[in-house]
Amino acid sequence: MEKKWWHGKTAYQIYPKSFLDTNGDGIGDLRGVINKLDYLKDLGIDIIWLSPIYCSPFADQGYDISDYYNIDPAFGTMDDMDELLAEAKKRDMHILMDLVVNHCSDEHEWFKKACEDPDGKYGKYFYIKDWKEGEPLPCNWRSYFGGPVWEKLPGHDDKVYLHVFHKKQPDLNWENVEVRQDVYKMMNWWLDKGLSGFRIDAIINIKKKLPFKNYPVDRNDGLSSIDNMLADAEGLFDFLDEMATETFRKHDAFSVGEVFNEKPEDLPLFIGDNGVFSSMFDFAETVINKSPKGAYDQKPVTAEQYKEAVFNSQKKVHGVGIISNVIENHDEPRGVSHYIPEGELTLAGKKMLGGLNFLLQGLPFIYQGQELGMENFCYNSIDEVDDISAKDEYKVALEAGLSPKDALHVIDHFSRDNARSPFQWSDKENAGFTSGKPWLRVNPNYTEINYEAQKDAADSVFNFYKKLTALRSSMEYNETLTYGETVPYLRETNNLLAYYRKGEKELLVLANFQTGARDIPVPEGFTKVILNNIEDIKLSGNTLHMEGYQLIVLGKE
Ligand code: GLC
Ligand code: CA
Repeated sequence: MEKKWWHGKTAYQIYPKSFLDTNGDGIGDLRGVINKLDYLKDLGIDIIWLSPIYCSPFADQGYDISDYYNIDPAFGTMDDMDELLAEAKKRDMHILMDLVVNHCSDEHEWFKKACEDPDGKYGKYFYIKDWKEGEPLPCNWRSYFGGPVWEKLPGHDDKVYLHVFHKKQPDLNWENVEVRQDVYKMMNWWLDKGLSGFRIDAIINIKKKLPFKNYPVDRNDGLSSIDNMLADAEGLFDFLDEMATETFRKHDAFSVGEVFNEKPEDLPLFIGDNGVFSSMFDFAETVINKSPKGAYDQKPVTAEQYKEAVFNSQKKVHGVGIISNVIENHDEPRGVSHYIPEGELTLAGKKMLGGLNFLLQGLPFIYQGQELGMENFCYNSIDEVDDISAKDEYKVALEAGLSPKDALHVIDHFSRDNARSPFQWSDKENAGFTSGKPWLRVNPNYTEINYEAQKDAADSVFNFYKKLTALRSSMEYNETLTYGETVPYLRETNNLLAYYRKGEKELLVLANFQTGARDIPVPEGFTKVILNNIEDIKLSGNTLHMEGYQLIVLGKE
């Protein structure tokens, strides 16, 4: 594998709106990110991915962009952005932006012009079709946020446009070379400015199976999941290879794709030596038990399922490329609330989960607040929910016959607001996130879970994450943790997730993924304790006594 500048690094996702507000308007801003660069450096972060900060009407929290060349005033100015790039560089840190180009906002000038003249240049930037009231729509795909993917084109009663996400997110027509050239121009403009690369949003959706046609109906709304169309679409890599050549490859930029459901043969095309991206996220754990019926039908994840997902992914990518490992992001529940069974969550469990994920082969991404062990929280009513996806899931759950109380329970668990609630800096008002009114509710547990309380506490989740980043970047283990093969250990043992990392050195990671204590045999030679999430270590001969949710990393003397 060719060595790259970003190999062996640690990355961090910032959701700017909820990170730190510096002007009291209740919305996190770029100045807040600049102010916290030293915090991130101290945590051991090298690469920072910013969720979208471009101009946006925020129908989908910035994933609906109305101007790719400007910063939304809620976040600050282009000067702030330039300052952020410069300050990051001083600290030897890299900034990534979110590239959202499957769609733009319906308030982008391209779409406005398309509405003015659907037959003109900009009409061809989108998928616009003739349609008359009473006729079937051009196809029966279901939008990711519910309802059909077609919406009436504003100002035209006889036309509809395609949106696979929200109706305020019209899909760009990637078949049109002018669209592609405009996108590459914009990407290069940012890369020339000093950006180190992009996280690439929802990218598999850019290739549609054309001409539009229906797929089998899979819910009683008479529609069909987009997944059915995507499985049928071909030619994605022609677009992505062109994008890579025109942008990333010229700049030696880092790119990480948001890719779901890839076919096995596609993996090297995505992240192999000549792949279109530097890396892609491993979502194998996040999709466990996902149900085509909706979130209400998703069962809790078991330790055994988690283990199998991890091992399958690790095997699949070894020797192919570098995967990016996450336990949560701005679309997922808080990892500690999702993967540890309800009622069993402890400090040890939080650290165990972090350690298990962090020590895998690949590039670890920490999502803001994960390093504090931030958790999901409870809603009193659906009116408190901001997330458009959660609102739809609530509706779907009610339609499936759940009581409002049970439907709300589903949302408690799966709402994207869980990860988007403000960062908990301290036990001061609003968790120290803002002096104003936070745009989204602060988790009431901020009085206990916050950075101030953790920074000097030796046994805090925060300090455990610092140990993890230090271990990864250490001269001694960086090579092994970056490139070493992950080899399962005692895979058949229930609720034990254990693996070797075999590179220049050998490490053994052992996690007791359950509340009950137990004895585990340890192979010859692994006598050096490198990391431990519970003070006690009881290794006698070849037997290791492990407490519930204990994680231990052993090496050789
Ligand atoms: C991605 C983003 C998500 C967004 C969607 C549409 O999945 O992570 O937040 O809603 O794309 O842009
Ligand atoms: Ca602000």
